[in-house]
Amino acid sequence: MSKLTVFDHPLIQHKLTIIRQKDTGTKVFREIVDEIASLMAYEVTRTLPVEDVEIETPVAKTVQKQLAGKKLAIVPILRAGLGMVDGMMKLIPAARIGHIGMYRDEETLEPVEYFVKLPEDIEQRDVFVVDPMLATGGSAIMAIDALKKRGATKIKLITLVAAPEGVEAVQAAHADVDIFTAGLDQGLNEHGYIIPGLGDAGDRLFGTH
Ligand code: PRP
Ligand code: URA
Repeated sequence: MSKLTVFDHPLIQHKLTIIRQKDTGTKVFREIVDEIASLMAYEVTRTLPVEDVEIETPVAKTVQKQLAGKKLAIVPILRAGLGMVDGMMKLIPAARIGHIGMYRDEETLEPVEYFVKLPEDIEQRDVFVVDPMLATGGSAIMAIDALKKRGATKIKLITLVAAPEGVEAVQAAHADVDIFTAGLDQGLNEHGYIIPGLGDAGDRLFGTH
């Protein structure tokens, strides 16, 4: 069974509370999603390997640590996942970016794939799939399927708000994919929206309806 991590860092919790509020406008919503994504990148990269490197300070030679050159990829699920990319890239600028386009059919709630473009060496990379919302889990499961079909094996799912139903569905479909979220909410309403959630993340990020 994959691991679920709920980030309880006070800054992440505080910022998540701001974007949940219905009166938070698009500009602030986008800025804060960006900030939370940076904080989440800091947490999910905690286990990256480091190696010794010999350097010279203005005072002396010394052996210090540097990242061991692990290849990373950030893969947003379009559209809303795009809102998390810049914030993560601030901390891991060498990561490559893949894109997976997917939307939920509003009647059936089933995801529909419309675009996949990934780094060529995706099978060698640690992949962070990013999407603010994990609701039924259909979009994340299909995105992870698309990645595995193209050779990715080391995948983590990073989301701002998750419903227990979505977590269970992803864990059942992809037991090797650890899930990270800032908020584990109550559940889903009859329209497949997360309760209390934050509404439609794509619309709130991009000012659409
Ligand atoms: C939202 C969200 C996820 C998906 C979650 O995208 O960004 O991708 O719904 O729902 P699920 O877990 O039930 O699949 P949406 O389909 O609204 O598309 P958008 O990002 O283009 O707004
Ligand atoms: N997609 C969203 O953007 N919000 C939800 O609550 C569920 C799916």
